[in-house]
Amino acid sequence: MSRKDQKVAIITGGSQGIGAGLVAAYRRQGWAVVATSLTIKPSVDPAVLTVAGNIAEPATTDQIIGEALDRFGRIDTLINNAGVFISKPFTDYTADDYATVVGVNLTGFFTLTQRAIAEMLKRNAGHVVNITTTLADYANSSVPSVLTSLTKGGLASATKSLAIEYASRGIRVNAVSPGIIQTPVHPPESYAPQAALIPVGRVGQVSDIVDGILFLESSPYITGEILHIDGGQIAGH
Ligand SMILES: NC(=O)c1ccc[n+]([C@@H]2O[C@H](COP(=O)([O-])OP(=O)(O)OC[C@H]3O[C@@H](n4cnc5c(N)ncnc54)[C@H](OP(=O)(O)O)[C@@H]3O)[C@@H](O)[C@H]2O)c1
Repeated sequence: MSRKDQKVAIITGGSQGIGAGLVAAYRRQGWAVVATSLTIKPSVDPAVLTVAGNIAEPATTDQIIGEALDRFGRIDTLINNAGVFISKPFTDYTADDYATVVGVNLTGFFTLTQRAIAEMLKRNAGHVVNITTTLADYANSSVPSVLTSLTKGGLASATKSLAIEYASRGIRVNAVSPGIIQTPVHPPESYAPQAALIPVGRVGQVSDIVDGILFLESSPYITGEILHIDGGQIAGH
C-alpha cells in the first residue's frame, strides 16, 4: 500500500486499556494511527505517531490535528476514547470533579471532533466513533455517577445528531456503549462480583470492544448507531 492510500485513525486515550487495544488493532488492519493521551510515550512503530497532552485543552486538539496532517496528510477515522470516571454521591462532587469530567469527556470530544470533521469534509469521507457507557442508559444505585451520565449521555445524543447532520456528506458517526470491561480503570478484585451481575456471566475484554468498533468501521451503511457491548446488561437481568 502506498503511503498516500494508507488510511489514518486518530485514537484518543491510546496509552492503555481500550485505546491501546484499538491502536494495535488498527495497525493490524494496515492503518496509520495517531495515538494521544495525557502521558503517552513515543512509539517505535513509524506508522504510530503519539501526541501527549490534555485533551481538555483546545491547544492539544489543534496539535493532534496539525501533527496528524503533517505526518500522514489525511484523517479517515476519529475514535473519541479518552474518558475519566469519578463515582460519588451527587452532593459530594466538587467543582474540580465537574471540570475534570466535563473537560475530558465533553470538551475534548467537542473540539477534536469539530476539527476532525472539518478535515473530513474536504474529502466528503470519514468516520467518528464515540465511547459512551451502559451506565448512561441504565443507572445503578451502587455506582452513583451522575457526571458520567451527564457527559456520556450527551455523547450518545450527539452521536445521533452528528450522524444526521453529516449523513449526506460521506461522514458516519457511531458509538459503542461498553458495560464492564477489564482495563486498568477497575481493581482486579472487582471482576468476580461484577461478573455475577452480567447476563453472560463474565466481564468484557478489550477485544470485545475492539471487535465492535472494527465492525462499525467496515459497515458503510451504519451511522447513528449506539452499539451496546455489555454482555446483555442493557437488555435486562
Ligand atoms: N473499562 C470500562 O469498564 C468502561 C466501561 C464503559 C465505558 N468505558 C469508556 O471507555 C473508554 C476507555 O476506557 P478504559 O477503561 O480503557 O480507560 P483507562 O484505562 O482509564 O484509560 C483512559 C485513557 O484516557 C486518557 N486520558 C485520561 N485523561 C486524559 C486527559 N485529560 N487528556 C488526554 N487523555 C486522557 C488516559 O491517558 P493517560 O494514560 O496518559 O493518563 C488513558 O489513555 C473511556 O471513555 C471510558 O469512559 C470504559
